[in-house]
Amino acid sequence: MDYLEIEGGYELKGAVKISGAKNSALPVIAASILSDKPFEITNLPNVVDIRTLLKLIDMLGGKVVHSNTTATIDNSSINSTKAVYEIVSQMRASILVLGPLLTRFKHCEVSLPGGCAIGQRPIDMHLKALEAMGAKIEIQGGYVKAEAPKGLKGAKIIFDKITVGGTENIIMAASMAKGATTIVNAAKEPEIVQLCELIQSAGVEITGVGTSELTIMGTDRKPLEFQPCKIIPDRIEAGTYLCAGAITGSTIILEDVESNHIKAILDKLESMGSTIKIEANSITIKAPKKLKPISITTSEYPGFPTDMQAQFMAIAAIAQGESIIEERLFENRFMHVSELNRLGADIWLKGSLAAVHGVKELNGADVMATDLRASSALVLGALAANGTTKVRRIYHLDRGYDNLEGKLAQLGAKIVRKKE
Ligand code: UD1
Repeated sequence: MDYLEIEGGYELKGAVKISGAKNSALPVIAASILSDKPFEITNLPNVVDIRTLLKLIDMLGGKVVHSNTTATIDNSSINSTKAVYEIVSQMRASILVLGPLLTRFKHCEVSLPGGCAIGQRPIDMHLKALEAMGAKIEIQGGYVKAEAPKGLKGAKIIFDKITVGGTENIIMAASMAKGATTIVNAAKEPEIVQLCELIQSAGVEITGVGTSELTIMGTDRKPLEFQPCKIIPDRIEAGTYLCAGAITGSTIILEDVESNHIKAILDKLESMGSTIKIEANSITIKAPKKLKPISITTSEYPGFPTDMQAQFMAIAAIAQGESIIEERLFENRFMHVSELNRLGADIWLKGSLAAVHGVKELNGADVMATDLRASSALVLGALAANGTTKVRRIYHLDRGYDNLEGKLAQLGAKIVRKKE
């Protein structure tokens, strides 16, 4: 199994290019099911999750031509509507094929994704919304079996809670339904906006894009014909490199980044003492000698993202004073705490709150990645720690970070991938 060996204590310098957003690419790939014409996607990140979803499309009978950052998908040949456990269990986001398969083919079977390290993560809101659109859904043998013999019809969906994946599934289902669907309490993430713009590029009318109320005029099962789609920059990857600059006291430049998508992250870095310079396509961070403590509560976009909570905990670990971090989205997203403490951090947990007492220095140790973003927090801690850290189980990292060790090494970090 691969692991990362990191010798900490080096300042970073230079520029790093941000890849396309994994969490935008996944719904865009799922949306390809709504089309029976070849569709080109560019600026894909080179990460395992993307390859997993493309493999699922291939298993459904679609034709996929994939190079590092580009894929052309032709879903005129889909001949199966079953998303099998072997794939869905590898990546929860495979549930995003449910809405498109059901609306185009009137039936499908998708394995239940199950829980994951960061919490229970049910899909009840996806299913309830599809039922409101006329689907009959049964759970049998670990599969969601859904059918809509007359096709899905538009409905008013009110989500009890904001759900990113649920909003995406219903936008896609609604785009080929009969009549209008309104989603109240919709997610507003940039990834949702990109999905809406893609569907609009096929001539589908969507109002309220970027707000919490969306109305989608369905095509009554006429497949969509998309314009080529360039994936937006990954705001979580960008945030992670900004944290790398902050934790190592460095000045670095991020290129191909969208500063409007990361305002909450930039605000927190500034209040910790960093200087941020925003230009057309780039951001420069100049870290202070000593970081100030911070108070963070995760929330839905445009609030502070839960996907950046672990990385900020790593930098708060060496801030001058006590930081408080509250996780409001996932009940079990603190598994990095004990691993950061192995590096010498002083973090205490009570329910959904973490108190981070800043320490003078971190020290290298053997640590274990527990989920995707927790893994990057350990890499950040290691960059600042004295001596050598080995980060194990980095298959979590490979799911969502494009060439993390290569990009950090290019910035001057001493980081190598090794095999046990
Ligand atoms: C997406 C992101 C993930 C991010 C999360 C929150 C992708 C591929 N993943 O995940 O990186 O951390 O948004 O920003 O884009 N919930 C229910 N019932 C449902 C659906 C969700 O109770 O039917 C709960 C979840 O358990 C969670 C909250 O709602 O507590 C938000 O989850 P959701 O926004 O759906 O997250 P994902 O789409 O899975």
